[in-house]
Parts: sequence; C-alpha cells; structure tokens
Amino acid sequence: MTHREKIAHLQEFPPETTQPNIYPLSWPAGMPKMEEIWASAQREQWDPAGLPWSSFRADKYTWEQREAVGYWWTLLSAFDASAPPVFASAFVKTYEQHEDDVVRRCFFSVTRDEHVHEQVCKLAIQAWLGTSDPLAYEPKTELGRRLQKNARWLFYNGGRYWEGYTHALPDYDLAVLFSSFLMGEIAAATIFHQLAARCVEPVFQEAFRKIGRDEGRHMGICLALMERDYPKLDHADRKLITKQIRAGYLYLSAVLFEPSPDFWDLPEDFIATQREAEEIARKAGFGVPDYEAKKQNWRRAMLNLKGVLDRYGIPFPAIPEVDITGEEVTDVDIRDIVPVF
Ligand SMILES: [Fe+2]
Ligand SMILES: [Fe+2]
Repeated sequence: MTHREKIAHLQEFPPETTQPNIYPLSWPAGMPKMEEIWASAQREQWDPAGLPWSSFRADKYTWEQREAVGYWWTLLSAFDASAPPVFASAFVKTYEQHEDDVVRRCFFSVTRDEHVHEQVCKLAIQAWLGTSDPLAYEPKTELGRRLQKNARWLFYNGGRYWEGYTHALPDYDLAVLFSSFLMGEIAAATIFHQLAARCVEPVFQEAFRKIGRDEGRHMGICLALMERDYPKLDHADRKLITKQIRAGYLYLSAVLFEPSPDFWDLPEDFIATQREAEEIARKAGFGVPDYEAKKQNWRRAMLNLKGVLDRYGIPFPAIPEVDITGEEVTDVDIRDIVPVF
C-alpha cells in the first residue's frame, strides 16, 4: 500500500509502523553514567567567537612564522573538518537504531562540539593567515608555498577516505564505530592538553584547554558505550575492530605523529617541509610537540586503547611504528577508514 492511499475512514487505529524506523516516538531511559556526561556537556558548552581573539596580534610575527602556524591549523582542519559530518552520521544512526535517549543526546553533543572545534580552526586560520581559504590564498614566503602544496596533498588524501566512509557507514555497527571514535578521542585529548600547556598566546591556550576538555568527555561517552556493548560482541565485529584500530592508527598518524609513507599518498619532501615549519612554529611560541614527543604521546595513547580492548579480549593490532607488538594487520585499504578526530 502506498502512503497516499487514505485508510483512516476504514479502521479505528492505524497499522503498526515497521520498526526500526528513524522516527522513534519514545525516549528509552538507560545508561545513568551517561546522564552525568550529558549534564557536563550542557554546562561546558562554549562559543569559539567568545575566545580572547582581540589579545592576538598576528603582525607581531614574521610571515614565515605565520605561515608555519597557519599550516599547522590547516593540517588540523584536514582532520577536524571531517568530524562534524562523521559524528552527524553517527548521530542519525542512533535514531535509526532507537538508542537510549541519553545516547542520542550525547551523540548530539559530540556533533555540536566537533562543529565548535572546526570553527576554531577557521578562526585560527583567519587570525594567522588572514584568509578563510588556506588552499587558495597566495602564500607570502617560499616556505608558505611549499606548505600550501603539503596542505593540498593532505586534503586530497582526506577526500579519498571520506568517500570510503560514506559507503562503509551503513555496514558498520555503532559498536565498531566506537572503537575508532575512542582512538581519535584518546589521541585528541592528549595532544590538545599538551598544546594548551605549550602555547604562549592566551587565545590558543584557552582554545586548546576547552577542546581538550571536550575530547575527554567524548572519550567518556565511548567508554560508557563500550562497557555496555563489548561484552556481547560477536566474532566478526571483534576482527573488524582490530582492523579498524590499525586503519585509524595509519590515518590519524598524519596529524598526531607523521604520515606513514606506504599508506598516505604524499610527495617526497612532505615530511621535511612539515618538520621545518613545526620547528619555526615552536620557536614562535606555538608548542607543536617534536618528533620524539609525538612518538611518545602516540605510543601512550595506543597503550591506553590497548588496555581498554584487552579488558574485552579484543586482539590489538601490531603497531611497529611505536614499538607495539600484536596481531599483524596488513590488508588495510583506504576504504576501511572511519575518519575520526
Ligand atoms: Fe574535536
Ligand atoms: Fe572529539
């Protein structure tokens, strides 16, 4: 029967709506732990336009410094700009699956927070480079030109993952998505707290502190859901999670460590140019961690994640880049990535 055919005159009550549909008319209670997280998300909501931008004067810096730091924000954007649509799709999924009311609210808060983080990137790029279009603007220095080339390659790679994600999302269970999300949240929480401590400009100290706090909450949401769902995971999902962790590692390494050359499609001088810019950014008081510090962070984040997955008996992949042994995962394809940050 089509929706257009009128039936109300034929029967007293409408037929049952086929379930699950995206339109739950109920708010199932559950997950009291998540109520606390939701309450703090409401309390800690913030507006990036309200940061002390007026205390920042870009003309204190040379153009090389500005382009070095502007590049770092562009690099972050190549990841952060995918977060709002990724979490928005996961948010829709919580409705399709008629998740508990508080789970739906928490995914809404993550989507909102990630949108805030993406807006911080925009405002920071405007502040450092004076443009809202870092891929198209005219660089002022030779380093700036090389960095823009880097940024274009990052964006090109990011676009390839996005295509994979839109195809993969309907097939993945929320439980599988959590493991990828958690990985991004653990890593993000670490790096933003460090940046908050190492940046001299108050506006960025505050931005990083707030972003780090949001990421910590996101971590809590993932952990609470894992606690609920992971004890009853089936074998296929366990295998998929192991693979997702390896895929997430390779993907996020480009922002949290250094891009793995056999996975990322980047020009040969990419890493040298990026290191050069990060050194300049550090000297200008914008505290991007150096190679060794990044490696240690990333290793620690991976070990934290391993600790969580061990609890549920999910094999952890080998990550030789940061000296972690585990299950060999070799067949990671670009289409397997769930882009998260
Ligand atoms: Fe974020
Ligand atoms: Fe997050």
